[in-house]
Amino acid sequence: MSDSNYLPFPKGFATAAIHEAQEPEQWSSMEVVAPISLSTTFKQYGPADFKNYEYSRSGNPTREVLEKVIAALECAKYGACFSSGLGACTTILGLLKAGDHLICINDVYGGTYRLMSKVASKYGIETTISERDAASFEKAVKTNTKMIWAETPTNPTLQLCDIEAVAKVAKKNNLIFVVDNTFLTPYLQRPLTLGADIVMHSVTKYINGHSDVVMGAIATNDEKIIQELRFLQNSLGIVPSPFDCYQVLRSLKTLSLRMKQHSQSSLLIAKHFEGHPKVEKVIHPGLPSHPQHDLAKKQTSGHSGMITIYIKGNVESSKKFLKSLKVFTLAESLGGYESLAELPSLMTHASVSPELREKVGITDNLIRLSVGLEDPEDLIADLEQALALI
Ligand SMILES: Cc1ncc(COP(=O)(O)O)c(C=O)c1O
Repeated sequence: MSDSNYLPFPKGFATAAIHEAQEPEQWSSMEVVAPISLSTTFKQYGPADFKNYEYSRSGNPTREVLEKVIAALECAKYGACFSSGLGACTTILGLLKAGDHLICINDVYGGTYRLMSKVASKYGIETTISERDAASFEKAVKTNTKMIWAETPTNPTLQLCDIEAVAKVAKKNNLIFVVDNTFLTPYLQRPLTLGADIVMHSVTKYINGHSDVVMGAIATNDEKIIQELRFLQNSLGIVPSPFDCYQVLRSLKTLSLRMKQHSQSSLLIAKHFEGHPKVEKVIHPGLPSHPQHDLAKKQTSGHSGMITIYIKGNVESSKKFLKSLKVFTLAESLGGYESLAELPSLMTHASVSPELREKVGITDNLIRLSVGLEDPEDLIADLEQALALI
């Protein structure tokens, strides 16, 4: 059961994850598991006269099943998958042209920030970094602004952006509002129902959840946007392999179960370490001490396995702590069945400018934990023994 103070878990989610677009009757051998279609090309009845597919970059049967499931889970009409989360971001930025302006939330995944500041800028797309509240986004709007980009909760400081409030700013100014929903998945947060125009994912994280596929996805209800994104998906060629699509379809079958466990374990661990003598601060939106705990209850069905801890100490203490962990693996990424720990200032967020890191609080004693599906008491014991060594 979800905490009754949060939004309820979405009805029919597990059923859709298992059955949506996967009726065996649609395949000639009535496969219960959606077949992997590896063919790169498809026979045509006559020139330019084909059944459903012509070439696997433009459309692939396995990918199409996955796109439909992701759309259904995000309460969207349309979905599209890409070869990575950043591939999805690149394609979304393809909706803009030289001279357009984009407003991005300040505490964004380092790679997204690098894409905007170092790549999109070369093509004449200007980015303004904004504080996460709606008023700051509104203040940053210029005559050439076309898009607002938010991540919530943010990575790695787990601050929330009020999706409904920012969506109002976007609507009023006729802007496309993109929400990166990687940290929560549609099981815990459904941005399109709160007014976003595009939701995107690094499928690499919770949606796949098994740390063996790199992929991205988007979902939207806007027909014009999906037409343009599908054109870009084919034109830029940022498509995933059919085998990876199969892997993700398989992973989705357990998404709701996994998210429930990530959610329960992370809250247990966060509560255990809040107030610990070796810990300065624990950030988890499910803790009443989180400054936006009420907003978390208003716009989500709970939190995932992400916890941010400020340990007492400096960069050397952080290194010692991370190297001493035995069950948590010191590695980038998140959202898998295995627990991971990392130091964003030197790892995932090294590409964020030192000024911006300082501004949002990505200090050398900030540790990001991705709580996996191991027994939570083993994870607590592991963190305790590593903290005892600093
Ligand atoms: C929130 C978020 N968005 C986007 C990405 C990029 O996704 P990918 O690594 O699949 O390209 C990441 C990767 O860590 C992420 O954490």
